[in-house]
Amino acid sequence: MATSKSSVLSRRAFLSTATSAGIATAAGVSHAAVTPLALTPGVISGQSPLQQIPISTARYAGRVYDFDTPYDRKGSDCSRWDGAAAPYPDGVFKYGMGVASQDFECAPCITDALAERIAHHNWGYLASSARESLTNEIIKWNGERNALDLDSSQITMSDGVYPGLIAALRAFTPPGGKTLIITPAYSGFYTMAREANIGTVDSPMQRINGRYEVDWEDLEAKMTADVHTLIVCNPQNPTGNVWRADELERMGQLALDHNIIVLADEIHADIVRRGHRYTPFAGVKNKAVVDNSVSFAAISKTFNMAGLKNAYYYSSNPALLGRVNQQHWPDINTLGVVATEAAYKYGGEWFDQANAYMDDTHQFIEDYIADHMPLVGYTRNEGTYMTFVDFSQVIAKLGPDELRAKYGRNTTEEAFQDWLVYNTGVFTNPGSWYGTGGDGHMRFNIASSRLVMQEVFDSMASAINKI
Ligand SMILES: Cc1ncc(COP(=O)(O)O)c(C=O)c1O
Repeated sequence: MATSKSSVLSRRAFLSTATSAGIATAAGVSHAAVTPLALTPGVISGQSPLQQIPISTARYAGRVYDFDTPYDRKGSDCSRWDGAAAPYPDGVFKYGMGVASQDFECAPCITDALAERIAHHNWGYLASSARESLTNEIIKWNGERNALDLDSSQITMSDGVYPGLIAALRAFTPPGGKTLIITPAYSGFYTMAREANIGTVDSPMQRINGRYEVDWEDLEAKMTADVHTLIVCNPQNPTGNVWRADELERMGQLALDHNIIVLADEIHADIVRRGHRYTPFAGVKNKAVVDNSVSFAAISKTFNMAGLKNAYYYSSNPALLGRVNQQHWPDINTLGVVATEAAYKYGGEWFDQANAYMDDTHQFIEDYIADHMPLVGYTRNEGTYMTFVDFSQVIAKLGPDELRAKYGRNTTEEAFQDWLVYNTGVFTNPGSWYGTGGDGHMRFNIASSRLVMQEVFDSMASAINKI
């Protein structure tokens, strides 16, 4: 990756410098330069007068953040770069474009709040007041950004979307039952169903006029008596659909008509491109449809805090919420609460800039593929920082059987994953993991510096155009 601009970290060096090394923002502010032991509550010592302002809205207002300078995460035990590289020989894996985490340095309010908390040297149990203040921030963010009117009695805290969704699948599915998934969809839904010991049914979307569209006839036909839940991924990972209110309502009405409960996974809620608008499933007009749903959310994609394990789910229907709660132990951890609350309170401007940057990166990729990769197909994203790219013509030229034989993988897309790593250094996720309709495709995570994305696409174009 752009070695001229980024330093290569050893794991030990990373751990010893992670809290003291900062990257200058475009405004010239070094926002991660924190020495935890020198802290007094609310005031960072040894910094510029601007940064002496206690952690507050004023401290972060008007800053301009730099997402272009590559932030090297290698050696930090991160799954996107370190975990994904592990199966490959040294030097082969160059670009981690898989796992859904961002390569950006996080919002400074998060590091500052964590540093302040770390200066207090005790890690006993959290008081319930901490949950209450976090819940208030959740309500405020959803109210201000998504016009969603939540009440604290409707919300259950969780340490991830996974635990909540697994609890719901268990709660609503009798033995032999199934969940219905609109595909291509997040591979984790199949993992969750396995964990809950239930079956899955796919309803593949159709690509019409450059957009993935629900096949309504197929969706209804799949709503058989053994299907008890419909997972609605809103926005949809990996295709990037930001579902419109009319689409959500239609999915919800069909589910209601067939005695199926909607489980709305809205972890990608905030990452929406210009010209599109996220509608929470719980925001649709039909109250009966909303009352037939439970929504699962987190701010962990928005601010890249998946490792801090903080999420929540909610429902306007106390009976449905109660059934999920019965299967779920609502624990959260102290650092996660501190970081999440800081992000909600002070991180809005950082996120808006990150989101605009990622939107431009989507556009860069669309233009790059159109201009330089004639064998590659592209569908425009409406949201999320994933993109699902069609390599079926490339795979056809390489020969699916030859690819599988050479790399010894189960699916053609897994074998093509290896081909890409060995021939271009680029690691992506195989489309075959995302259910029916994923064949021939690879999922890219575009939440990286555009300098890195340029290298990624240059490397792929040069290898693919030689086939
Ligand atoms: C749609 C979707 N749901 C859930 C998750 C995982 O959620 P968590 O890490 O909170 O368990 C992801 C992660 O990529 C995702 O894309």
